[in-house]
Amino acid sequence: MYILGVNAYHGDSSACVYKNGTLIAATEEERFRRIKHWAGFPSQAIEFCLKEAGIKVQDLDYIAISRDPKANFGKKVVTALKQKLSIKNIIDRVSNLKKAASIEDEFISLFKLQSGELKAKIVNVEHHRAHLASAFFPSPFEKSALLSIDGMGDFTSTMIGTGEGTQISVLDSVSYPHSVGIFYTTFTQWLGFPHYGDEYKVMGLAPYGEAKYVDKLRQVLKFLPNGLFELNLDYFNHAKKGVNMVWEGGIPAVDSIYSDKLIAEFGPVRKAEDKLEQYHYDMAASVQRFTEELIYHILNGLHARTGLDSVCIAGGVAQNSVANGKIIQNTPFKKLYIPPAGHDAGTAIGAALWVYHQELKNNREEVMWHGYFGAKFTNAEVEAVLKAQNIDYRVLNDSELFDEVSQCLIDGGVVGWFQGRAEFGPRALGHRSILADPRRTDAKEILNAKIKRRESFRPFAPSILKEHTATYFERVDDVPFMEKVFVIKPEMRASIPAVTHVDGTGRLQTVDANIEPKYYGLIAAFHQKSGVPILLNTSFNENEPIVNKPEEALACYLRTKMDMLVMENVVIRRS
Ligand SMILES: [Fe+2]
Repeated sequence: MYILGVNAYHGDSSACVYKNGTLIAATEEERFRRIKHWAGFPSQAIEFCLKEAGIKVQDLDYIAISRDPKANFGKKVVTALKQKLSIKNIIDRVSNLKKAASIEDEFISLFKLQSGELKAKIVNVEHHRAHLASAFFPSPFEKSALLSIDGMGDFTSTMIGTGEGTQISVLDSVSYPHSVGIFYTTFTQWLGFPHYGDEYKVMGLAPYGEAKYVDKLRQVLKFLPNGLFELNLDYFNHAKKGVNMVWEGGIPAVDSIYSDKLIAEFGPVRKAEDKLEQYHYDMAASVQRFTEELIYHILNGLHARTGLDSVCIAGGVAQNSVANGKIIQNTPFKKLYIPPAGHDAGTAIGAALWVYHQELKNNREEVMWHGYFGAKFTNAEVEAVLKAQNIDYRVLNDSELFDEVSQCLIDGGVVGWFQGRAEFGPRALGHRSILADPRRTDAKEILNAKIKRRESFRPFAPSILKEHTATYFERVDDVPFMEKVFVIKPEMRASIPAVTHVDGTGRLQTVDANIEPKYYGLIAAFHQKSGVPILLNTSFNENEPIVNKPEEALACYLRTKMDMLVMENVVIRRS
């Protein structure tokens, strides 16, 4: 049985395909379109997934879409009347619903099908149920509490529930316009970061400030005794005026959400080109701390209602790796699972698994311990790309490769490392990564000068051999997807300055030899020479989506000052 999962007309559009409960391929449309967070109908991702599965669209049994235009319709009408949503806002929403309803037409026109040729049953899975399914069904837990938390999808922003075996039960939810994601995005915009997906910049900024204004934020968002929350809508625009969100055929765009009252209380909006003042750092710290408190409030409430030890989390807010890293200390939960694509791209997985388990009641087959489900290229394919451009290269065996690359890193080099299948999800995890020596105090400056040119306050992350985690970090846990930030032991910070954030933390990836032997082998070679079992790992891109194919990796290498490019076992270096 083949199930295609699709996230369409939402940020980070994506597709995946399952064969009898086994994930064959998963990818984000942005990797093909080369536009970050691309939103719309993910036609190229769908074509890629079908090709990987070796099937035609006619062979699909189900197409699962992670949105349900009919979901929460009553709530939508009530809110529209209560909040006096503008006519334009309602029209925008209705036209978006119509678009989603014509998904069958999209398939018919994409694959030039005759009527009746598409046999697959199309199933709409409500957005947050898809998030919950994306976290629970691939988790290692038989029974677990569940949380989905984001800006908004299908008119809901937060959903709690439980999962047991093949079934998910929803306990409660928070409806639009109330939303943790909208709260965080509003202050992200107010701090001068207007683009979709800029929230992680506020998280990076927060450790430079003091969380002085947490109490002031309590008037903006109220914690409720039932373990949920509500926004004070006087501080926001989205409910009254309607906020234009563009989800079709390109980069998602969101209008400004802060109201005049927010500006009156918190001061003027910072323009992107304005200098960051101490006040901005303090506000970033306060927003981050307050959001952490809110997440723990929701989780504490969820624990009280379920009494379960394990929790699975997904949704855009589940990308807050700083908050995630402290969940076990701040809640009664003992075990936590967050999938590699906790954001909206992951709802393609969730929708497919919802159909396979929840609706068809099939047993769960596999735990998702890695996110390597994208495009892959052989040595021969890489060599063909280089030959076509008359570029000299060498092909090494694995041990020669580990030796040469680790030496280049030790000598101060920056290496593009392109291996195996591309990662599904926002993080590069050693398959589409740029690597550097974490011991160098100047690594951040070198990387920013040579390649990234990104804001100086943003940290770089460490990949660590799993069994050395306890030597460097105060917590020991599997962190396969860089989904948590942990405190680095004070005595170790000076030895890895390039991956130690200003507050002494690191957003780690624990690398397991059984799951990722080649990346493990490289770090082990570096460890043997340097005594440090860690590499600095940042995504292989330069202000663009992560590179997907060898041509893009080569172009990135050629236009930046990277010292070495390794694709599979093929090496090119600057002389
Ligand atoms: Fe979402």
